[in-house]
Amino acid sequence: MITESALRSFERMETPFFYYDMDILRRTVDNFASTLSKYGITAHYAVKANSNDRILRTISGAGIQAECATGNEITLALANGFPAAGIFFDGVAKTDKEIITALKAGIEIFNCESIQEIEVIDAIAGSMGLKAAIAVRVNPDVDAHTHKYITTGTEEDKFGISAGAFDQLFATLARCRNLSFQGIHMHAGSQITDMSVFANIGKKAAEFEKIFEDHGLQVKLLNLGGGLGVDYNDPLGNWMPDVEGLARAIADNLPVKPGQSVHIEPGRAMVAQCGHIISRVVYVKEGLKKKFAILDCGMHTLIRPALYQAHHEVENLSCKAPIEKYDVVGCVCESSDTFAQGLEGGAPHRGDFFAIHSAGAYGQVMNMKYLQRDLAPAIYSDDI
Ligand code: LLP
Repeated sequence: MITESALRSFERMETPFFYYDMDILRRTVDNFASTLSKYGITAHYAVKANSNDRILRTISGAGIQAECATGNEITLALANGFPAAGIFFDGVAKTDKEIITALKAGIEIFNCESIQEIEVIDAIAGSMGLKAAIAVRVNPDVDAHTHKYITTGTEEDKFGISAGAFDQLFATLARCRNLSFQGIHMHAGSQITDMSVFANIGKKAAEFEKIFEDHGLQVKLLNLGGGLGVDYNDPLGNWMPDVEGLARAIADNLPVKPGQSVHIEPGRAMVAQCGHIISRVVYVKEGLKKKFAILDCGMHTLIRPALYQAHHEVENLSCKAPIEKYDVVGCVCESSDTFAQGLEGGAPHRGDFFAIHSAGAYGQVMNMKYLQRDLAPAIYSDDI
């Protein structure tokens, strides 16, 4: 939420910047913590969604664990209060250096994505005189019904080990002396709002568990990955993600045996709605048929619309009436750098503040310096 007093304090700030409503973040994180503990599910926050120190500290402070995709994310997570003993290390391309970083730190689990990766982790752990705890990322072949660039769980994806390679997998696991097999990992995709997808993932996990146990591998850990979506169309009215729906879909479809633990890796749903890009209109341009509000942010600030045709609500904070129809575009010289087409919003003027909502997840972390523009800084509601 952007209050009147927050808007007044924006007057003295350079734009664009990411504005984080820390109250929304705390309430979202607390909802995850309390709802999931009711269902006995452990959350590992996907650091890739937003890795700002203040955000990480708020999440670790609520007792949530971390999921990291690189060695640098592990280092950052540790520096911001996440215990090593709760870190899951994901990713298709873990380098030797990253594996060593993770082993030295004493992370909880390597989620392994290929047979060769399993062999490399075994060799490195052996050379360090350690045993590495691993889970195997299996390919659930579940359609997440989401954008094709963020679907990961169908058979054709580069992620995970498909059932066709299981014989080789089981032979490899039997050979590796420096690994301790803990369980199964899955991740079907991102921005999933249809809870039946999570129900299917839960059912698939139970099926895979049986296959592994039939091969003499005890499945102690079931990790269903991230993916819970948020409402990009109504970020102010419906900002709380459906954590209860997710937990219920899992609990109803995945029977848990004594001694087993269930985990998820939410990223987007924890941080998307607390973040907004605040930008000023640089120019208003009257085209032949259209009007354009040209902002001082662009696809280098938020790449999601250009990369995934993602929708983000755009709002003129400075002028609510009269309503006009216009396009809201970024400051980069590429046609895909458009935030809204045919927006019906308050008439734009040079200098007006615009907000682009739901920018807390995969916003600032995907920033770049294209055109040598400055990276947009973070401003936190607690500080203004
Ligand atoms: N676990 C694994 C193994 C993942 O690959 C991801 C995200 C997550 C957890 C967290 O997923 P979430 O809960 O955030 O959906 N840049 C894209 C999203 C890429 C997601 C990559 N993997 C976007 O802006 O939509």
